[in-house]
Amino acid sequence: MEIKKIAVVGAGNMGHQIAMCAALAGFQVKCIDNNPEILTKAISFADTYLKERVIKGKLSEEVATQARNNIFFTSSITEAAQDADLVIEAIIEKLDIKRKLFADLDKICPAHTILATNSSYIVSSRIADATNRPDKVCNMHFFNPALVMKCVEVVKGLHVSEETAKTVMNAAKKMGKTPVLLHKEIYGFLVNRLLQATRQEALKLLEMGVASVEDIDTAAQNGLGYPMGPFSLLDLTGIDLAYHVGMEKYRESGDPADRPSPTVVEKYVKGEWGKKVGKGFYEYE
Ligand code: 3HC
Repeated sequence: MEIKKIAVVGAGNMGHQIAMCAALAGFQVKCIDNNPEILTKAISFADTYLKERVIKGKLSEEVATQARNNIFFTSSITEAAQDADLVIEAIIEKLDIKRKLFADLDKICPAHTILATNSSYIVSSRIADATNRPDKVCNMHFFNPALVMKCVEVVKGLHVSEETAKTVMNAAKKMGKTPVLLHKEIYGFLVNRLLQATRQEALKLLEMGVASVEDIDTAAQNGLGYPMGPFSLLDLTGIDLAYHVGMEKYRESGDPADRPSPTVVEKYVKGEWGKKVGKGFYEYE
């Protein structure tokens, strides 16, 4: 199956950039969010991002105009999803909310539509049985910032058909990504498992008073060649997300080692969630 129309559900941290990737690749995109503030922010991003790319000489005026015309913002899930070939869900990391959304999408979308989740850690088999098309429900996991990061993880759980995995891999390639295929479901997929190891260690070193946030970040950048240190990255991806991911994992495993670290809990409670709120481990204008 060839994907032509994509609906991105959720215009937040990840969704607005996934929608833009798809629009730049020539897909017809509808991006939906039921929060008017988030939707307004996403529309404003689409306008300014494309203009800035043209000014920077990274995009031609023609390509930018085409991309802007390819993307339509709405607050109606029916309008967004009723004729989509592929839906990419990028909403809050709460299983019950995702299951309800997928059950709704199953009713709204045509029979051929693939329903993918951008969840950082919820495997699609936990959502697929809320629909009548489990073979067409899979993980398609992008990385932040989605417009820059080339990796997309496509996870082919046992319930996912070969056709679905192949179609989603091809759609990611068309978006200019380098997708990787996971042949089985596993918590955290590939990248977040690797990331988590560094992050946990960084938090432990901070809590032990071994070094400052700045110096641990500098060490990761200059000693390992990471593009940004673990704390800057936590600010970018969201401390609220790290908190929810940790809590969910702990709820499932019952293992205290899986609980979010005291520093993450403290920042979460204080509302210091990172770049999006102007303060996390660092302060932002
Ligand atoms: N949105 C869109 N584009 C952005 C951007 C953003 N937020 N931030 C930077 N860019 C673009 C710039 O426009 C620039 O593009 P150009 O070279 O084509 O003009 C390019 O990225 C480089 O930007 P800068 O020179 O301003 O800054 P850096 O070179 O420091 O790059 C970075 C910034 C791309 C964020 C880089 O530091 C990086 O790669 N960091 C690591 C990010 C990472 O590890 N992401 C994965 C997180 S884990 C995750 O997402 C999983 C999830 O489940 C939580």
